[in-house]
Amino acid sequence: MTATLSPPPTTAGRRRRRRGSRPSAIRDIPVRRLRHDQADYDLDRWVVPGDPIFSHFLAILSAVFPKGEEFFVASVRRHRDAVADNPVLKEQVKGFIGQEAMHSREHRRLNERLAGLGYRMARADRTIGVLVDSIYKIPPSTLPIAATAAAEHYTGLLAEAVLSDESTRTTLFGTEAVEPMIAWHALEELEHKNVAFDVMEAAGGGYVVRVAGFAVTTSVLASYVAIEWGRAVWEDRHLITRENRRTFHRNLMRQKLLSPWSARKLLIYLRPGFHPDDTATDELVQEWRLRLAEVATANTKADTEPAPAVSTDTPV
Ligand SMILES: [Fe+2]
Ligand SMILES: [Fe+2]
Repeated sequence: MTATLSPPPTTAGRRRRRRGSRPSAIRDIPVRRLRHDQADYDLDRWVVPGDPIFSHFLAILSAVFPKGEEFFVASVRRHRDAVADNPVLKEQVKGFIGQEAMHSREHRRLNERLAGLGYRMARADRTIGVLVDSIYKIPPSTLPIAATAAAEHYTGLLAEAVLSDESTRTTLFGTEAVEPMIAWHALEELEHKNVAFDVMEAAGGGYVVRVAGFAVTTSVLASYVAIEWGRAVWEDRHLITRENRRTFHRNLMRQKLLSPWSARKLLIYLRPGFHPDDTATDELVQEWRLRLAEVATANTKADTEPAPAVSTDTPV
């Protein structure tokens, strides 16, 4: 499913008049399948070699993706009517749903493998399911899409860190089994980074709702990742040696996911005139489309059926 699209005519046009042109303009959102021969997940106990602490961080991140991305899809689908008269955004929503469904599916495969290695994946999956179900029920009806738009800001900046910084990739995702999958996911996060935000605006979510969504995502989802990470490290403290801790500190300095760079990028979201396309990532997208051409291939429609939605009272 590939469509070359121009910017949304209504909301984006208004924004351009208000804030000038934007550095990101890529509008096609193809759904790809990760080739399984590139993702056998032949992993050692510590997915970041010699570093149990960062290994737990990556495992927790992966653990929250399946239920989290099902929530993103449900939130976007809830406002399908709001984009019905915008053919460009409507098409982007299809691409968004297809991509997130594939991410969800692939992270489940990886998570099964991680669970087999001893990571506590089921616990995180269960908890995040309860959390996103709760968020879905909080009024106003635009809050879940606002939380999704904020979460997409988080994933977009993580994706930019992964794709733009070789040191981050080699330090945290250097294993052959994981790197292509992470790069594929990161590329698609950048390709669809505007969709949830534009749906939120189309559904009538203004600045107050946007900030409320950011507060919910940060205080519930991001905080849960931090708490669960700390818990997992504490539970494995008897396995963590002094050398492991030294490796963690060295790795911390070599990566951008957890860094002042990320913190600055995160807070840009709170600017009143912010839009995801304000960050120039088109060159990065073009570069990684070429680099991943052999790893992830465009999908057929039958392969892109969305993953099951979160359980909600509202049909999605
Ligand atoms: Fe995703
Ligand atoms: Fe996403």
